Amino acid sequence: MKKELTISLLITIFVLVGAFLMIAKSTTPSVSTETTSTPTQMTTSSTSTNIVTSIDVQKHNSISDCWIVLNNNVYNVTSYIDQHPGGLTMVPFCGKDATEAYNTIREGSGHSNKATKLLQSFYVGTTQ
Ligand code: HEM
Repeated sequence: MKKELTISLLITIFVLVGAFLMIAKSTTPSVSTETTSTPTQMTTSSTSTNIVTSIDVQKHNSISDCWIVLNNNVYNVTSYIDQHPGGLTMVPFCGKDATEAYNTIREGSGHSNKATKLLQSFYVGTTQ
């Protein structure tokens, strides 16, 4: 009788320990899955670029809403028109590709590095 009691007690302990281990195991992988999925999402969002269609660019074709395309990059230069040293020469290019005009001012030498650096603050996205 004593033997049977000891055996059943041992079985109960094994079952309890087994159940505890199974619960512990099933919790650990779910945590590690979350940790691996977060960096993947971050990588995806950090490498993604904002693609702008030519139809989108064409919508911004006025002095009060002016986007231009230079070397396949799109810039919103609306706020810069007033300060542009070249005056309103940029306005006919609103909503269009202005690469050639941008690169050929000053008898073909194009805009300065200063102008190109300034451009970066107006970046919207890329057409490719
Ligand atoms: C969209 C076509 C554009 C055209 C046709 C154009 C035209 C001109 C012209 C004719 C000048 C010479 C002014 C002079 O020497 O008296 C000039 C100068 C200048 N433009 Fe533009 N521009 C354009 C876009 C831009 C953009 C997008 C920026 C910057 C966001 C910019 C920044 C400058 C700067 C800083 C100068 C002074 C000279 C230099 O540093 O290169 N321009 N531009």
